[in-house]
Amino acid sequence: MRKIIIAGNWKMNMLFTEAEDFLFELSDNLEEKNLNSVEVVICPPSVYLELSSDIADDSKFFIGAQNVNDNSNGAYTGEISVAMLDSMDIPYCIIGHSERRKYYAESDEVINAKLKKLHENEIVPIFCIGETLTQREQNITKDIILSQLNGGLKDVEIEDNVIIAYEPVWAIGTGKTATPAQAQEIHALIREWLEENYSKDVSGNTPILYGGSMNPENVKELLIQPDIDGGLIGGAALDVSKFSSMVATAVEL
Ligand code: PGA
Repeated sequence: MRKIIIAGNWKMNMLFTEAEDFLFELSDNLEEKNLNSVEVVICPPSVYLELSSDIADDSKFFIGAQNVNDNSNGAYTGEISVAMLDSMDIPYCIIGHSERRKYYAESDEVINAKLKKLHENEIVPIFCIGETLTQREQNITKDIILSQLNGGLKDVEIEDNVIIAYEPVWAIGTGKTATPAQAQEIHALIREWLEENYSKDVSGNTPILYGGSMNPENVKELLIQPDIDGGLIGGAALDVSKFSSMVATAVEL
């Protein structure tokens, strides 16, 4: 039985005290909740990883990084390594987000290298894939998804250690959510690909999250789709009440 994962991606938002206030409030909001079937993850900017991780230690949520470098260590000014995340016991890391693909020209090859480095350190990647609006209009969504899966997961062993996030680029930060049917169609395609390329078990056990303008109003109809196992949430994860209410919805399902 797959857990529902509700993950917040803060991107480049929140000042120090805002981050602190959010995390303490989230911690309070989750305290009385039975989270057996739901995993809550917050991905803050890397400068707040230590703060976040300290608060998470006494709370019911987990922390993920938003990015990591594909090199082990050395002269890469401004970057952070997988070993650094590991040394702080950070359990998750987003890779392949469309904003990184777009603004930092991250290729499937680099994303694949990051993913393998994370696995060497037993950190679970939240591996993002998704088509642009032009690609959807050209009717090549499925080809794009399959090629991102083939590229990002090339020569990767999966055993309960990858989370995939399907995030249609046209739905990110735009207020335009994929319909539950549009999202489910691609999630089912991803699950099928996992079964063909790995096994029925891997396909059945790998969480596939949806991302793209998920909010308290649409979260339920998305989460009840058979192949949607949670959400990677940007805008609505900056407001602790909205984020907590999405967790509450997931708990009730
Ligand atoms: P959004 O972002 O919820 O603001 O659309 C999602 C994401 O980019 O992960």
